[in-house]
Amino acid sequence: MHFLLGVVMASAGKEPKSDWKEIQPGIWRAQIGSADKPTLTDAGRAVAKSERLAAMPQGKLPFSLDSVGLKKSKNFATVHIPLGKDEKIFGLGLQMKGADRRKGIYHLRVDHYDQGNDRLHVPTPLYVSSAGYAVFLNTSRPTNFYVGIGNRLDDQSRPPFRDRNTDRKWDDQPPSDWVEASVEAPGLEVIVLTGPTAMDAIRRYNLLCGGGAMPPMWALGFWHRTPSLATAQNVLDEANEFEKRGFPLDVIGLEPGWQTRSYPGSMEWSKERFPDPSGFLTKLSDKGIKVNLWENPYVAPETDLFQKLGNKFGSHTVWLGGAPDVLDKKARKTVQDFHKAKHPGVSGYKIDEVDGFDVWLWPDHAEFKSGPDGLQMRQIYGVLWQELLLDMYKKKNERTFGLVRASNGGASHLPFAIYSDTYDHRQYVTALTSSSLAGTLWCAEIRSASSPEEWVRRMQSACLSPIAQLNAWADGTKPWSFPTVNETVKEAMLLRESLVPYLYTAFAQYAMDGTPPIRPMSLVDGGTETDQYMIGDSLLAAPMFTGETSRTVRLPKGQWCEYTTGKLIGENQKITIKPDLNQIPLYVKAGSAIPTFKNPTSVAKGISSKAILVRAYGRLACSGLLYEDDGRSFNHEKGDFGMFQLQTSDREVEATHLAGSRTTPSIQFEVIRLD
Ligand code: GAL
Repeated sequence: MHFLLGVVMASAGKEPKSDWKEIQPGIWRAQIGSADKPTLTDAGRAVAKSERLAAMPQGKLPFSLDSVGLKKSKNFATVHIPLGKDEKIFGLGLQMKGADRRKGIYHLRVDHYDQGNDRLHVPTPLYVSSAGYAVFLNTSRPTNFYVGIGNRLDDQSRPPFRDRNTDRKWDDQPPSDWVEASVEAPGLEVIVLTGPTAMDAIRRYNLLCGGGAMPPMWALGFWHRTPSLATAQNVLDEANEFEKRGFPLDVIGLEPGWQTRSYPGSMEWSKERFPDPSGFLTKLSDKGIKVNLWENPYVAPETDLFQKLGNKFGSHTVWLGGAPDVLDKKARKTVQDFHKAKHPGVSGYKIDEVDGFDVWLWPDHAEFKSGPDGLQMRQIYGVLWQELLLDMYKKKNERTFGLVRASNGGASHLPFAIYSDTYDHRQYVTALTSSSLAGTLWCAEIRSASSPEEWVRRMQSACLSPIAQLNAWADGTKPWSFPTVNETVKEAMLLRESLVPYLYTAFAQYAMDGTPPIRPMSLVDGGTETDQYMIGDSLLAAPMFTGETSRTVRLPKGQWCEYTTGKLIGENQKITIKPDLNQIPLYVKAGSAIPTFKNPTSVAKGISSKAILVRAYGRLACSGLLYEDDGRSFNHEKGDFGMFQLQTSDREVEATHLAGSRTTPSIQFEVIRLD
């Protein structure tokens, strides 16, 4: 038995020692050593949603905060947290392998290279326990976690010594009932978030970080990135081709060639390839298509932005360009003003190459006059860029959504999804499921494939991820690149478009309640699967991988139906499925009402049709949520939105107003019953 268990239980519920302060309802903070700035929440400029936190159910920790060890040694700040015998630990960054992190060692830092490990684009120092609480280290330094491993000499709960000569149970990593975490820094802010459930603990974390990001509605449609050196005419031709062939398209992403130069860039339109940017943007906007620009943040000398930034760069170059010191307020504003002036009409950015370590970014010892050294700055550089771009769009009262290749804690409210050059389909799906445990979103983009089967399976996963994107920057692929499966690919893209009202509602739940739109099984019911996940309250996705003809799916509690047919397939059990290539394994909780676009050709057309088809599964009376706002501004933050409870009877839908100043939905409903 755990030595401390008696102590822990006995003291649970009492006010802890003065080391701990309740900084928000159900969120406790302790400081080890001195304040070490900037913290992650400083870097992301996260403002906690206190009212929503106050409305959450109360959670109870399975240990006393007084039993948490907080220590400052010569070089390290260390925290030592009890771990129950049966607890599973999830999270510790956006990991691409596994789920339960118990009995593991994790060195969390932004790291692009695969050194036998997974790439770590988002090293959020946050873990969540199956016992219903979470721990967050609010530091912008690299962190170390020893989870249920590593025993202190002074710890009475150590397991018994074993003799390797004679005892076959000898273990080279004897287990311990602790999580120990450390940071090489003068101080550390430790934050403990209560539940009651693991999902609630993550919700608290997201609300502490400003609530989840709310995308504009168009961002939930289909994105296509054109080849690096495409000209304006090439891009317009491609957009026309989508239309002609009946494939939906909502966002076009331009890659390096839109700039006069790249790596490092000028962040200015190339006159040669884009002679008339505003005419180009208008032509696309007339078709309801938004434009997203690729950038990496390193600025070529002798460019306008380089001159404007003066000496506001880090001490070292990246590919001989300057790295703007965007923690400095003036540099941040210069970068914002430049983007605002030079790219009017652009909907957002893809911020590349912020995840490199010292091989091509600056060294650990680089200096930034705003304070951090190179190592620390690398941990937050992606966060700083996301935040400054969001702030720029906020001032225009226009929502944005973009992509970024590295982020960190404190960034849940920043409207960006992570992508990677890793192109392993299984790792992509694992990253998708673990992204919510790192307070971020993942884009399982499709680029290329070696067979029509792979093309379909990857497209199906891409269409069930926060951003549905084909990134053709290198391969020049199009959705119709594998003609034998054209119709199947189109079906997956149209399914995506049809789900936009449901997804938008799931994102509103993220923004308002901190509940992530992509829900790993660990948060749903403590499961450890990394190849299935829930989307919002009612959908369960179980992607197929190339070469597979069957797979198992674990259905959580409750009855489940097939998405397309409504057929009941089981409840609270494992099933084996054998879907055809054109079938996406997607299931719905019986009793759910799923709001969809009726004629899903694009988000712009879906919005203007004002028609919602409610798919009602398994029962006569089904219910679900529907969120509505203007789809593009920040007015919803001032209350201009409506959240409705949909209730279906035979062919009718009743919408009950739950929150927001819009008290009746502005749309027509139709019901289709799948029971
Ligand atoms: C890579 C990035 C790709 C593409 C490419 C353009 O770093 O991961 O998505 O943008 O740069 O050069």
